[in-house]
Amino acid sequence: MLVADTFLPTFEHLATAVILLDGQLRIAYLNPAAENLFALSSKSLIGHPVQHVFTHTEQLVAAMQHALTNNASYIEHDLSLGIPPHGKLHLRCTATPLQLNKQLLLEFHTIDRPLKLAREEQMLDQTQANRLLLRNLAHEIKNPLGGIRGAAQLLEHELEKPGLREYTQVVIQEADRLVSLMEKLLTPQHQPNFSSLNIHEVLERVRSVVLAEFPKNMSIQRDYDTSLPVLMGDKEQLIQAILNLVRNAAQAMQGQGNIVLRTRISRQVTLMKKRHRLAVIVQVIDNGPGVPAHLHDKIFYPLVSGRDNGHGLGLTLAQDFVSQHEGSIEFDSEPGRTCFTVMLPLK
Ligand SMILES: Nc1ncnc2c1ncn2[C@@H]1O[C@H](COP(=O)(O)OP(=O)(O)O)[C@@H](O)[C@H]1O
Ligand SMILES: [Mg+2]
Repeated sequence: MLVADTFLPTFEHLATAVILLDGQLRIAYLNPAAENLFALSSKSLIGHPVQHVFTHTEQLVAAMQHALTNNASYIEHDLSLGIPPHGKLHLRCTATPLQLNKQLLLEFHTIDRPLKLAREEQMLDQTQANRLLLRNLAHEIKNPLGGIRGAAQLLEHELEKPGLREYTQVVIQEADRLVSLMEKLLTPQHQPNFSSLNIHEVLERVRSVVLAEFPKNMSIQRDYDTSLPVLMGDKEQLIQAILNLVRNAAQAMQGQGNIVLRTRISRQVTLMKKRHRLAVIVQVIDNGPGVPAHLHDKIFYPLVSGRDNGHGLGLTLAQDFVSQHEGSIEFDSEPGRTCFTVMLPLK
């Protein structure tokens, strides 16, 4: 008999979602609150290990192992867990070993929206502060580069041995390369030019540009909701933003693979701290290798790149442009499926 059996009647009435694992870490019990939270019935789950029931269980398994190794409660504050077929849940999870029978008690709380929003707002402020710092820095670096280049040119004219020009040329070329990088960091500051536009025209343009760049072995499928209303936006900015996403997908797949451009409508969304009744969703989905794990929390930062010749500005620019539309960009990535989601409010 399970020691925790004595607790089971209490668990039945708890508002907290509770799962009890047996000594082999298989699900022995889950209370009605857990059935509710995961929208799964306990009958189908009993006897299965959590890894068979849920997906993306790495964090959960790590929390369980932590609790068992230290023989103490372990709290994971920001756990994401895949619940097939419903998608991912963000949860706080406490794992507590129950000593006698080596059972493990898992409690789950959904992370409430205010907390998640507060975190997003903090991210937004931080990102804006970083951008400002970077722009100022780019400005400071760009100015003396003109002097360095000019001096190298003067020196070049004075050199008697032509062989030495090789060195001044390196200085000049590298200064030019830095200037062009700094200019990329400094550009996107103009006010957007809003007009009413059809998001599918934007996507069609992007599609033909990328297909021209990657003519072989690449397909870009359309999955459009043709009933979408027109949107107020800056067409050039939106083309550039989505082009950067689709180009990244094509580059990640080295020009071989399948991209889907999907549009949908979404209701009652909060974007950039503001609530909107309607928003357009644009998704760029590829079947490439996925965003490298070590870059997951920083790919929107400037100068962060996973490619040899990358500048790491494509996503920064895309995010700048989308936020000038009061929209947001998020992504979800695993090997074989990467999805970038752009949300744009409809006014
Ligand atoms: N669809 C994708 N699949 C895999 N990795 C991606 C994808 N999109 C972006 N990335 C990663 O994010 C990095 C940053 O992208 P970006 O800001 O456009 O800079 P860059 O393309 O110059 O590297 C890329 O170098 C790549 O490692
Ligand atoms: Mg890029």
